[in-house]
Amino acid sequence: MKAALITGVTGQDGSYLAEFLLQKDYAVYGLARYCSERKHERIEHLKTNPEFHLVEGDLTDTARINSIINSFEQYDLIEIYNLGAQSHVKVSFSQPEYTANVDALGTLRILEAIRQTNFTSKFKFYQAGTSEMFGKIQEPLQSETTPFYPRSPYGVSKLFSYWITKNYRESYGMFACTGILFNHESERRGEEFVTRKITLGLAEWLKTHKPIELGNLDAKRDWGHAQDYVEAMWLMLQQHEPQDFVIGTGQTHSIREFIELACSKLLGVDGGVSWEGNNQDEVGISKYDGSIIIKINPEFYRPAEVDVLIADATKAREILKWTPKISFEELVKRMINNDINENPVYRT
Ligand code: NAP
Ligand code: GDD
Repeated sequence: MKAALITGVTGQDGSYLAEFLLQKDYAVYGLARYCSERKHERIEHLKTNPEFHLVEGDLTDTARINSIINSFEQYDLIEIYNLGAQSHVKVSFSQPEYTANVDALGTLRILEAIRQTNFTSKFKFYQAGTSEMFGKIQEPLQSETTPFYPRSPYGVSKLFSYWITKNYRESYGMFACTGILFNHESERRGEEFVTRKITLGLAEWLKTHKPIELGNLDAKRDWGHAQDYVEAMWLMLQQHEPQDFVIGTGQTHSIREFIELACSKLLGVDGGVSWEGNNQDEVGISKYDGSIIIKINPEFYRPAEVDVLIADATKAREILKWTPKISFEELVKRMINNDINENPVYRT
């Protein structure tokens, strides 16, 4: 009898992971926060599955976390995927204390709850680490041995979680590991992250010609598709020994390149967009009809930026036998098609 508890089940990754684990015959428990409207768009279709159970709770609530962890004694094996987080980097600058409470102390609450049960050895724990921990990169390609240099309260909080996970592994022999995942997007990506903001913004632009307002277009990210990445999380917990892994594609693209590709997919014109002006006055102009698609709004700049990220996922390739299947081009195509067709795939 195996169970999985997914914190953050209502999020992008949580929803894909729940689907993945249900297919593998886990009893899946998803932690969701109480909210006045019990609508969880990304997981609504799972609610009729008898093996899927929603558990109400919040990562800031120690007593509740303890009681949830204690409720799993009946199972032989319990995999916990700690995906719950205030996951927006820019928001972490305006809400640093809350971010630390959820993203740093939330992890500690779960680990300590597991340690205090009398069935600790039945648990395996996965922590959702992030390439944001590399921040101001110390090596051109970032692997498990690259020194960390986080650049936001979010990155610093996640670094606490990385170290406390390692500490519980080494101190108490717990099966606990961190996946250091680089950016992954999808048709279910939150609307405030730059890729989804662009694809949804383009869908809106088609109807209204309202330009999309963005911040720094020159940052570069190693972008993959979330469906590939949830498989890597599971693979980490199937190993004999708990170990940390970097997960990414090894390719990097700027926000500008994402826009160009998205615009060419949308408009059927090579390059899709041309650039005029500099810095805050720069605009992206449609090659199709000459109207403005992209404008800069300094409101979206960050107090400190992560300029570039590129994963060296050799260890995952060799030990987990994991490689991403969905290319950058396919990712952009899927997001554009989804948003243009107004066809939320999570209902299928
Ligand atoms: P997401 O879509 O923002 O989902 C975050 C989830 O956490 C949501 O279900 C959210 O619930 C939940 N949550 C927030 N605060 C909570 C709290 N106080 N108690 C319980 N749950 C809470 O994020 P994602 O993209 O799926 O990412 C999943 C995890 O991987 C996060 O930890 C993120 O930091 C990390 N990560 C993501 C990426 C990426 O590129 N996507 C890369 C590296 C690491 P609500 O629905 O109620 O808001
Ligand atoms: N969100 C956002 N909105 N970002 C913008 C915008 C905008 O209008 N304009 C430019 N950007 C730039 C940001 O400055 C950043 O350099 C880049 O686009 C990516 O921003 P996000 O999509 O918000 O993602 P992120 O890289 O900061 O963080 C995501 O990836 C991390 C892994 O590296 C999140 O999913 C984190 O939770 C995750 O850990």
